[in-house]
Amino acid sequence: MHVSLRQVQIFEAVARALSYTRAAEELHLTQPAVFTQIKQLEDSIGLPLLERIGKRLYLTDAGHETLATCRDILGGLERLEMRLDDLQGLKRGRLRVAMVTTAKYLVPRLLGEFCVQYPGIEASLIVTNREKLLARIANNEDDLAILGAPPEGMDVVATPIADNPLVVIARKDHALARCKRIPLARIAEEPFIVRETGSGTRLAAERFFAEHRLSLKVRMEFGSNEAIKQAIAGGLGVSVLSQHTLALDGVGGLLQPLDVAGFPLRRKWYVAYPAGKHLSAVAEAFLAHLLERKEDEEALPA
Ligand code: PGA
Repeated sequence: MHVSLRQVQIFEAVARALSYTRAAEELHLTQPAVFTQIKQLEDSIGLPLLERIGKRLYLTDAGHETLATCRDILGGLERLEMRLDDLQGLKRGRLRVAMVTTAKYLVPRLLGEFCVQYPGIEASLIVTNREKLLARIANNEDDLAILGAPPEGMDVVATPIADNPLVVIARKDHALARCKRIPLARIAEEPFIVRETGSGTRLAAERFFAEHRLSLKVRMEFGSNEAIKQAIAGGLGVSVLSQHTLALDGVGGLLQPLDVAGFPLRRKWYVAYPAGKHLSAVAEAFLAHLLERKEDEEALPA
């Protein structure tokens, strides 16, 4: 059986995405090139690996078997690469960090410091929302993940690395801007601009209001903290956001946290990885860097 490593990589990507087009995008190949490689792989194996029923692509039994072996091969090569990097100490190696959107106010800076210290390390940073990050942790796609609360119902090692208070943010000239201890029921009457479903910030805010038998009057929903800040500055409503989002206030100090009973919601940033995962020397070193910087970060005014 003649199977190339390239075919193994291509088949793994197609089987994961169940789409030739998405796999081609991911691998920076054309769709016909991907299709041809899969056909050649099927010819060497002598059985179809994928079948199209209606508009969807499915793995055949042979496809499932082949996928398991492809994953073993790719996993083995990745472990070999990691062990070879470890032999080189921190002189070279790869570091894959994934984080929730809101952690952008903290993590790139810490990663930047680390990369300056170890210039031979090739670091990548994936930015996504909580829901997608949890799926990445479940699939063991990254070395380390940074998120706003430890994943529930998943076997992970999660360590706190900094505070992440959530506050109610409004425009400075909001009618409630000077009020003290605004009751939760009063703020719940305001129009809210919220993050997209799947965001950890949104989940924490909705849970808190629900615990007090209140629900948010959602006026708008955006997939970005910065867009929400602009909308608040534009007078469209208030929002619950991480206090970190005010640190680099791109709207020129037009916003402020309101003094709402029960706020700030006390949360923390966590670094997490699947329990039992073997961390590379580089990932261990970055984790140590995060923990070393923990106190400095917590002492920073947000
Ligand atoms: P988010 O996560 O960026 O998905 O809202 C932040 C958090 O969990 O605190």
